[in-house]
Amino acid sequence: MKRLTVKTIREAAPYQQLVAEHGSPLLVLDCDLLTQQYKKLSSALPGVELFYAIKSLPHPAAIDTLHQLGASFDIATSGEIELLREQRAEPRHTIHTHPIKRDRDIRDALRFGCTTFVIDNIYELEKFVDYRHRVGLLVRVSFPNPDSPVDLSRKFGCRPDEVEMLLQKANALGIHVKGLSFHAGSQCPDASNHVRAIEACGEIIHRYNEQSSRSMAILDIGGGFPVEYVGDTAEVDIDRFCAPIRAALATLPEHLHIIAEPGRYLSAPSMEAVSRVMGKARRGEQVWYYLDDGLYGSYSGQLFDHALYPLTVFSDHDEREAAVIAGPTCDSIDVIAEDVELPSLNIGDLVIGHQMGAYTSASATDFNLFERATIVAINRDTESDSATNLLHLAYR
Ligand SMILES: Cc1ncc(COP(=O)(O)O)c(C=O)c1O
Repeated sequence: MKRLTVKTIREAAPYQQLVAEHGSPLLVLDCDLLTQQYKKLSSALPGVELFYAIKSLPHPAAIDTLHQLGASFDIATSGEIELLREQRAEPRHTIHTHPIKRDRDIRDALRFGCTTFVIDNIYELEKFVDYRHRVGLLVRVSFPNPDSPVDLSRKFGCRPDEVEMLLQKANALGIHVKGLSFHAGSQCPDASNHVRAIEACGEIIHRYNEQSSRSMAILDIGGGFPVEYVGDTAEVDIDRFCAPIRAALATLPEHLHIIAEPGRYLSAPSMEAVSRVMGKARRGEQVWYYLDDGLYGSYSGQLFDHALYPLTVFSDHDEREAAVIAGPTCDSIDVIAEDVELPSLNIGDLVIGHQMGAYTSASATDFNLFERATIVAINRDTESDSATNLLHLAYR
């Protein structure tokens, strides 16, 4: 597995310029890359309405960029609603996807103007009795995916054979269920779980629509679209990944509105971490480099999201020696990479982490009260400065 790239000192210049301007640690959010990801996924899933899963990267510049592209939004908390409100996103293009909500969560979302909610059990369904004239629900169905690094059907979703009971109960309570949803697991290795879930949900919807006076009109195929964390330039061919999904969707009735909730695929490639070596030490056979960002900060996804981010350092020397790259906190778990062969680095040198937009800053902590990385958004509109454009030319 290729995790580390060494580039020449000359290639560090655009990053050094950013650090000179903003300090470090930084997370550089490239809105052009976010735009490209959105366009690629939209063309790989024609006719599917994309609701960006805000949780993966809840940053105003990301919301603004996607809003301008016409994206819809998947919200799960009142905090995420506030972010959308600030960015003037349209409530009718939102869905509330958290299967477990407090009454005040429901009221906050309704006050905002979101009227589509997800439930996966009877207690959650009953919470909507008082709001039944204002909402339409999606029932989340569980399709376990132990092959994906993050199996999102363990904690949420009813079994396929429980859906009918929930639909009957909803009918009895006068609550409108307008469709089904699932999450195939995050960072899916292939589309087989999506396909299995689409086929199973298609059958449930078909059976229900034949028997009932009401009909389900929405299928939400969730997230799970993967990115490449191995190597420094490889990219997932999203068109090829989605081909079996397109084929499965083509078998569904035409009237069905298909939506998706992508997070990682849109946000991950859009952000790079820029950290500086703040100290070094020789311990046994290895050199330890201590960065000003680590597992309690932007690299938190190594713990919570099981991701290992590709790294770049800069050097003009050929010699390499065994090294450890660690974060700044006092905890010994705070190690980004071990047993890597590195050229000799100096205090102040830069280390770049790639594919760091999804589930990184979102789960960073304040442990030790080390300051979190500053997020710098570049290429926000057409007048982007040349240094920031160079940044991605240097990496790609
Ligand atoms: C309900 C829901 N929708 C969408 C997503 C986004 O998934 P992904 O980042 O795999 O696209 C998640 C991730 O946790 C989720 O829980």
